Amino acid sequence: MSAVSLQAPRGTRDILAPDSARLRALAETFADAAELAGYGQVVSPMFEQIEVFRRVGEATDIVSKEMYEFRDPGDRRLALRPELTASLARAFVQHRPTLPWKAWYEGPQFRYEKPQAGRFRQFNQVGAELFGSDDPQADVEVIALAWRFCTSLGLRELRLVVNSLGDRADRERYLGALSAHFEQRAAGLSAQGRETLDRNPLRLLDSKRPADLAVVAGAPAVDDYWSEAAAGHFGAVLSGLEALGIPFERNPRLVRGLDYYRRTAFELASDALDGAQDAVGGGGRYDGLVADLGGPEVPGVGFALGVDRLLLACDAEGAFPPPPGAADVFVVDVTGGGEATLLAEELRGAGVRAERAFDGRSMKAQMKAADRSGARWALLVGPDELADGVVSMREMRGHGAGHAGASVQRRVARSDVVGEVVRAAGEGSTR
Ligand code: HAM
Repeated sequence: MSAVSLQAPRGTRDILAPDSARLRALAETFADAAELAGYGQVVSPMFEQIEVFRRVGEATDIVSKEMYEFRDPGDRRLALRPELTASLARAFVQHRPTLPWKAWYEGPQFRYEKPQAGRFRQFNQVGAELFGSDDPQADVEVIALAWRFCTSLGLRELRLVVNSLGDRADRERYLGALSAHFEQRAAGLSAQGRETLDRNPLRLLDSKRPADLAVVAGAPAVDDYWSEAAAGHFGAVLSGLEALGIPFERNPRLVRGLDYYRRTAFELASDALDGAQDAVGGGGRYDGLVADLGGPEVPGVGFALGVDRLLLACDAEGAFPPPPGAADVFVVDVTGGGEATLLAEELRGAGVRAERAFDGRSMKAQMKAADRSGARWALLVGPDELADGVVSMREMRGHGAGHAGASVQRRVARSDVVGEVVRAAGEGSTR
């Protein structure tokens, strides 16, 4: 028999405790921030009809090369979502909620990318979208939400980079000028650069290949192609950010990996991360997307943050540690284990984090497990305690102030022990 070693698929990971608790805490922190700003959660399917994504970006790698596409047994053509903006636009068209519609989300996305540090095939995002307003203050609100949330995690080495891609017509004219510029100089581009030129000249602007850099440096600037309205909009967004004291950099070469952006585009980068994958999030305005999906002309603006990268940035900056996972109490029962079951259930019912051992292990082994659990107290049940109707309550090493190394133990009536633990936990001490 051959032993096949089964592993999580390439580019995916199992996230175990305490990292999983940290992931959840991050999503909860985001939920609080988004709901403070009036966004309601949307939970949408992990897969959609393939057209939802096809219609928004045939020219982007994310849609043309990186989608997990499949047919279900009913022969429907589906795709695992590579992002959620298109899904939310589809949901908007389907449900027609009242405007403005402010929605936040969290969950896994799927892209068939080349895995590397900070880049996965299944990764998590949190994000928010605001449908139904073309007010520049709406752009400011979503950028401020992303910024406030990231800084609330304790991240300091963050850079907000902003640009405007103009309106649809501006963008078309700019694309034309850009194509002409690059085509005239195609010989100077890298082979990959020439390939990108054929697919989407905008994407050449963020090429990091040395051969392309010189050609990119002389490329026309998007500013020269803005309509008056688009220029005015961008000016108002920048003033709004200034008024809030949110620092930003203007980068006229910032383009995004998705095609639906109009006017504002932005990215949040972390200087604590490796340069190649330093974007912790991005977003912008996507007026026209809802109409492309068969809905009315409803504008929208939003962003998504890469949770995995945010957490890597937190690691690098020593921010947002995992929440404490330790038990409050460890029940050590050397009378067979049934007492531990009763006591642990009573404690849990009272909101106390209670752990216990199984398999009738020795006192010494159980005390070791209690130590490892990080519990503050061990509750000991031996034959004497059982006979006297008491439990011995011992404060574990490293917990009691002024008692480093010493363990303080006292007997508490079995009927009082849950109340006593709750009281002691509230006071922060057993004495
Ligand atoms: P995006 O720039 O494609 O935008 O993704 C947003 C963030 O998700 C990235 O900045 C990055 O942190 C993270 N991310 C993307 N791909 C990966 C990956 N393979 N592994 C790990 N993290 C990744 C969007 O998805 C748009 N829907 C954002 C948006 C919302 N625009 C308007 N509204």
